[in-house]
Amino acid sequence: MSPKPGSIDATVTTEFYRDLVWTLRNGVLAVTRDGRIAVMNEVAYRILALTPRTTDIGRPFAEILKDQPDVSRIVAGAFELSHLPNRAELRLKSTGKVIGYTLSQVRDPRGRITGATLFFKDLTRVEQLEERERLRDRLAALGEMAAAIAHEVKNPLAGIEVMAGVLKRQLPDSEDAQSILRDIIKEAKMANAIVLEVLDFVRPIRLQVERVSLADVVRDAISMAESHIARGQVQVQVALPEDLAPIQGDPHQLRQLFTNLLTNAFEALGGTGLVRIAAKQLPPEEEPSAGAETPVPMIQMEVTDDGPGIPEDVMDRIFSPFFTTKPQGSGLGLAIVRKIVDAHDGRIDVSARPEGGTRFGVTLPVSGSHELFR
Ligand SMILES: Nc1ncnc2c1ncn2[C@@H]1O[C@H](COP(=O)(O)OP(=O)(O)OP(=O)(O)O)[C@@H](O)[C@H]1O
Ligand SMILES: [Mg+2]
Repeated sequence: MSPKPGSIDATVTTEFYRDLVWTLRNGVLAVTRDGRIAVMNEVAYRILALTPRTTDIGRPFAEILKDQPDVSRIVAGAFELSHLPNRAELRLKSTGKVIGYTLSQVRDPRGRITGATLFFKDLTRVEQLEERERLRDRLAALGEMAAAIAHEVKNPLAGIEVMAGVLKRQLPDSEDAQSILRDIIKEAKMANAIVLEVLDFVRPIRLQVERVSLADVVRDAISMAESHIARGQVQVQVALPEDLAPIQGDPHQLRQLFTNLLTNAFEALGGTGLVRIAAKQLPPEEEPSAGAETPVPMIQMEVTDDGPGIPEDVMDRIFSPFFTTKPQGSGLGLAIVRKIVDAHDGRIDVSARPEGGTRFGVTLPVSGSHELFR
């Protein structure tokens, strides 16, 4: 009798099937009808942030997945659902990763259900890229509008400044008028600076990519931040590994990025505290944006402070342009940071430190697939 399609014949050994499943680039998790782990491949362990142990096979899945209750629930549902989801998404509470999954039942030749398989993929990066696209579209629309308004506002502002200057010269003897006109000129100059800042922000970034030492970038950023705001008694600790690989990036933009983060940290600390800048090399990961199959080594930079932290309810707005909690802030600092990180094919995350304060993580590819216009 010839083997039915899909069954094992002599040329394809059981070992081959085992290797095939283990090395698949999607996560595979299969359980038997009585709720034991039958198969769990390398990617599954990695996405679920579990350590592979040979003893896992045969153990109840509820036990192995106890830290991933949402996944456990889906697997358990495989035996009850009459309509299995074809492709669903889920955000893992434990790690924040987004997975896309398909659930299928395993049946024997007589059609009896003997197990279930969860086939899944880490979509976190894909989600980030989509988010980035959305942001870029929003910024492009915002940019057009802002550029139009700025253009309209620039001339009247220049007019106000010039005319106030004329008046100031015509009234040399009135101390009151001199003082008011000085204020008018100062305010007009400030408004003009905001207009220029907005125009600068909405302009697409054109990266001038070269080999950049992050240690140099950080050193320059510290002095630039210090020139913006008095650092006071704030201590700055730099802990970069000696052998940190240089990256392909735009040194000017990267300096701006860290200057903005450090300026915020100094402002949050208000004169006393500790800012720490650290870096570590991450294992290579795949870059779906590049469409490349080769994994790209990444460097993760961390800027932490022990200031008051960012209130939970504003956390998801801090990267939006013009969001600020400061009386004199323009709210563009972090929006610019994000734009620069995106242009470098990197990513940024922010979290509250358990011991108080804020942590910004900037992950940059050692060499990216930089588009020249962003
Ligand atoms: N390290 C930090 N600690 C506490 N809050 C922070 C920190 N970094 C940013 N924030 C919060 O995020 C908001 C947005 O920051 P962002 O740098 O975009 O704008 P800004 O600092 O208010 O103004 P600008 O940078 O344009 O002068 C800040 O107003 C502040 O509330
Ligand atoms: Mg700022």
